[in-house]
Amino acid sequence: MSRSELDRALDLITEIPDFPEPGVIFRDLTPMFADGTAFVHVVDALNEAISDDVDRLVAVEARGFVLAAALGYARRIGVALVRKPGKLPNVADRIDYQLEYGTATLELPVGSVKPGERVAVVDDVLATGGTVAASVELIRRAGADVTGIAVVLELAALGGRSRLDALPVHALRTI
Ligand code: PRP
Repeated sequence: MSRSELDRALDLITEIPDFPEPGVIFRDLTPMFADGTAFVHVVDALNEAISDDVDRLVAVEARGFVLAAALGYARRIGVALVRKPGKLPNVADRIDYQLEYGTATLELPVGSVKPGERVAVVDDVLATGGTVAASVELIRRAGADVTGIAVVLELAALGGRSRLDALPVHALRTI
């Protein structure tokens, strides 16, 4: 894949001002997901960014699921689905974490990450890093090893990378 093909795919990400609240610029990846060629290029680029020896992918609800499902299929490895509260009947562990304003909770299903596994975390956007950092903590508490993080878009000004213990973070685009 050429750089320009990936760039064209990433250029489909749309900036929506004042969503979900005034002053916030929302990055909408749905046009990129909806374009078959773009989606293939983005999934292929994430696949290249994730090391070959990963046993499992962990993705966060909801947009992370779309990417991780495609990657898990391509690699023939399983995907652990970290969910927002109240969705899972079989919670192995949960974590509360700070948002810019308030707190949020994520839950890991029973049996989805096993001790000793090598895990990559996949998500669409790395912003403050709170979501990925909480996922990393859940994975480590399950006894697995996080080897890296792959995202489509990194919002560098929000400093997410600095919350991730110097783990390798690969972003297809950093703005
Ligand atoms: C978005 C995005 C990441 C997270 C990044 O999810 O998909 O998971 O925020 O933000 P952070 O780095 O500041 O934690 P959102 O909670 O909007 O959920 P969605 O995928 O269900 O829309």
